[in-house]
Amino acid sequence: MFDKSLLEGKRILVTGGGSGLGKEMSKHFLTYGAEVIICGRRDEVLQKAAKELADETKGKVTAHSLDIRDSLAIEETINNVFDEGPLDGLVNNAAGNFISRTNDLSPNGFNAIASIVFHGTFNMTNTVGKKWIELKQPGTILSITTTWVWTGSPFVVPSAMSKSGINAMTKSLAVEWGPHNIRLNCIAPGPFPTEGAWSRLSPDTEATEGAMDQSSMSSNPMGRVGEMNELGNLATFLMADGCDYLTGQTIAIDGGAYLSAGGTFSSLGKLKDEDWTNIRETIKKSNEKDKKMRS
Ligand code: HXC
Repeated sequence: MFDKSLLEGKRILVTGGGSGLGKEMSKHFLTYGAEVIICGRRDEVLQKAAKELADETKGKVTAHSLDIRDSLAIEETINNVFDEGPLDGLVNNAAGNFISRTNDLSPNGFNAIASIVFHGTFNMTNTVGKKWIELKQPGTILSITTTWVWTGSPFVVPSAMSKSGINAMTKSLAVEWGPHNIRLNCIAPGPFPTEGAWSRLSPDTEATEGAMDQSSMSSNPMGRVGEMNELGNLATFLMADGCDYLTGQTIAIDGGAYLSAGGTFSSLGKLKDEDWTNIRETIKKSNEKDKKMRS
């Protein structure tokens, strides 16, 4: 989709880069010439991913194990990364989530998610941002949120609340850090099935079968789930130079799912040609009846 040198010379750090969406975005950045640093909690997974990504793209990729719940570890990792050379981009992708009735959640259950998504994302952003401001260097931050930042979402309340916080952070810092040439944007993906997310959001149980199967996840105007490549391309565009005036925005990539959920007539997308013919005839008859009554 892009010139192969689009991201040449850029160093981009991706949290949660060892699996799922983070690994896919890392692969795209490497393909377009960036050097990528992947961070994550599980060292074994990270090392394996780094090797796979390097073999596949022939790009430069390094792995740093990091739990973004630990603010001191963030500080140490970012210092080490900048010691090797300044970063140009940060992708806040690491997240945690599981479905649960909210009244079943303990304070610890809430914290399990908020400590990663809300606190961890802020601490990564502020630590990297401070470095850029100190070094008088421009930078780009991309955070992965969800469309729940606009709609809320039942049964994933700690995630919806935390992701909404990232949305507010992005808009706020786009203004506060604009004068430092630091821009911040978000991608709000719809369902892009990955093992990490799906085992917790669509667990394979008898109860969720039917209520949350693959077809219900793809019941959006495009009738399908997202393809990893589509997300990788959007992330590449947002991390590249060329539209630097674009900041503080959250872009949904969900096949129109969240817009259709709010539309009164969205379900009419399922109607067939003959249904529309019948509807038209019925409305026509009703109009004629009205006209007769008026005359
Ligand atoms: C209720 C639960 C629970 C559940 C855990 N807890 N699972 N409560 N229902 N299903 C509670 C526990 O009882 C405990 O509270 C507390 O949470 C911590 O439990 P741990 O087992 O210690 O959890 P932890 O090891 O911290 O792991 C939780 C996690 C984990 C970090 C969220 O699931 C994880 O590692 N996830 C990473 C991958 C991931 O989730 N990716 C999805 C991102 S998707 P008590 O009180 O008992 O001590 C996403 C958006 C998707 O963000 C958008 C799709 C459209």
